[in-house]
Amino acid sequence: MRLRWLLPLLGGLPVLGATGKESHPLSISFNDHVRPILSDKCYACHGPDPEDRAADLRLDTEEGAFADLGGYRAITPGDPEESEIFWRIESKEEDEIMPPPDSHLSLSKQEKSIIKQWIEQGANWDTSGKSGTL
Ligand code: HEC
Repeated sequence: MRLRWLLPLLGGLPVLGATGKESHPLSISFNDHVRPILSDKCYACHGPDPEDRAADLRLDTEEGAFADLGGYRAITPGDPEESEIFWRIESKEEDEIMPPPDSHLSLSKQEKSIIKQWIEQGANWDTSGKSGTL
């Protein structure tokens, strides 16, 4: 078979492992993009219910998400590497990774990247629902 014919064909196929057409917007909106992820994947243990709250950490309020946890913060606007949630979602360690493996919840690559970019872009806690404008 002649390779020249095969190449355009391969070009039309989604690259294995890539996220394909689920590409995300350049400007991340807390309300539209970040809150739904936190709500689905984190609020069961870091949300409004004090009974179920783990590590005394709330990620459903601005105060909780930016609070001093004893020399570090869950979220440091503009700086993912100074944000504990970034390390926790990127961790490969079973006893560190968030959400914990036994919760059977997990974040997709896409979701991790949205959270990282949102922090990089200043972690604007905008709950007004105006999408995409920064
Ligand atoms: C099933 C419950 C559960 C879910 C869901 C969960 N966590 Fe946690 N989280 C915990 C527990 C328990 C701890 C305390 C143990 C530890 O530090 O690993 C913790 C600790 C943390 C800490 C460290 C807090 C500190 O004081 O150092 C961060 C940050 C965190 N979680 C972020 C997240 C994020 C972000 C999500 C969602 C992507 C999430 N967690 C989802 C149970 C959960």
